[in-house]
Amino acid sequence: MPVTQKPEKKQLFLNLFEMACVSHITHGLWPLPGNQRHRFDELSYWTELAQILEDGGFDGVFLADVIGAYDVFRGGPETALREGLQSPNLDPLLLIPAMAAVTERLHFGATFSTTYEPPFAFARRMSTLDHLTKGRVGWNVVTSYLPNAARNFGLDAEVPHDLRYQYADEYLDVLYKLWEGSWDDDAVVNDREHKVFTDPSKVRYIDHVGERYRVAGPHIVHPSLQRTPVIFQATGSPAGIEFAGRHAEVVFTGGRTSEEFQKAADGMRAAAVRHGRLRDDVKFIAMAGVIVGRTEEEAADKYRLYQQHASLDGILAHSSLPVDLTAFPRDITVAEALRRAEVPPSAVPFLPLERTVGQALDFISGSREDRFLAVGTPKQVADAIERWLDEDGLDGINLRQYHSFDTARDFAELVVPELRKRGRLPEPGGAPTTLRKRLFGEDRLPDRHIAARYRGGANLDEPIGSLELAAGNVGSF
Ligand SMILES: Cc1cc2nc3c(=O)[nH]c(=O)nc-3n(C[C@H](O)[C@H](O)[C@H](O)COP(=O)(O)O)c2cc1C
Repeated sequence: MPVTQKPEKKQLFLNLFEMACVSHITHGLWPLPGNQRHRFDELSYWTELAQILEDGGFDGVFLADVIGAYDVFRGGPETALREGLQSPNLDPLLLIPAMAAVTERLHFGATFSTTYEPPFAFARRMSTLDHLTKGRVGWNVVTSYLPNAARNFGLDAEVPHDLRYQYADEYLDVLYKLWEGSWDDDAVVNDREHKVFTDPSKVRYIDHVGERYRVAGPHIVHPSLQRTPVIFQATGSPAGIEFAGRHAEVVFTGGRTSEEFQKAADGMRAAAVRHGRLRDDVKFIAMAGVIVGRTEEEAADKYRLYQQHASLDGILAHSSLPVDLTAFPRDITVAEALRRAEVPPSAVPFLPLERTVGQALDFISGSREDRFLAVGTPKQVADAIERWLDEDGLDGINLRQYHSFDTARDFAELVVPELRKRGRLPEPGGAPTTLRKRLFGEDRLPDRHIAARYRGGANLDEPIGSLELAAGNVGSF
């Protein structure tokens, strides 16, 4: 009799979404009783968190970052500072060794911008982290969207959007040469008898000369387990999607509805195929809110509490809204408020001009209440997560925190056992792996990824060439 094999269920890639600040993404909640967010500047916050996550069955912690102040709303940084909105904000890369030292399996995603600092020093930092964590790191590639960030790095204004992606493309080209091409796997011989640590014939200059960077190499760090850390990216724009098609292994995307999400994911899969990759070479994670209680009532109470304490000022400053809608009566139209504030509608393309100010504010406050929010009992939220995996095609989530450490503890205690029972999370105690192995079954990038063209020192004198961006909105710098 033929044995019919049960199709394997897709497992959830489970990350906690974090940032080394008081108010990352759920504003106004840090003063709630028991919330530990004010300890973000203590090493013990991060080691305690890492242990909760590893013991609780999380795959990883994903660290966001910005390198400037939110100073567009109300024309200065005051609102953001008062709210603790991503300021003060510590360097995420420096937290990883502390968390790695107290864990074995937890993975780490860290955000770093390609726009302002040259690539050589960053290549070194990531290689260092990949060694120290035994391949447990990923990099969230961002190009930075805050105008203040540009002014912190010697520029008068933001680099135009699509040009940032072109710079990023050359940035990654340099990194791939350093990470993949500069050293052979067997370069380090560690031969005590002949007193040779590295075989110099296995290490080479990269001699990159591009439009923006000149980097000689060789890489100053020997190959780590993954060489190139797992590449994450969040995007929705045509230029960003083209970039993701070439580079990203995990894309952060979202959507108010399942259809929106699937359309976005399909666009990125198609971009990957245009760049010689397979559709399944890109995985998708969404930022998700999960508020769980032992009963429906307990979950609803928690949700109500978080809604009551949510800070509208925090949300508006985070959105860099160039007009303070709170200064106008709720019943006038947005168009009228913009006229009175002398702000052109083109500055706020996402605001519905004919709606009232009140409706627009409610829309902005509720923008996180999308497809990827689940409130309820462990069974109800596990049902929702299974729908995200099976109906939408999501691979994982970055769990939004409302309360530290309650959000992570609740998920670990109530949801993880339910997901394990349903075969959606691995059983505890598996062997530690690299991040890429957890996601794709291999430690290294596949040969069809553009980074692989430099392996063994091949193609070093042929840069990958400018990424053809679909939007054509490239300005001069
Ligand atoms: C869930 C999520 C998390 C993000 N985290 C960061 C971050 O930590 N730092 C940052 O500079 N940008 C962050 N971004 C912004 C993205 O890097 C990017 O600027 C944004 O998605 C717009 O990209 P696009 O213009 O290509 O559509 C994040 C975006 C999303 C959707």
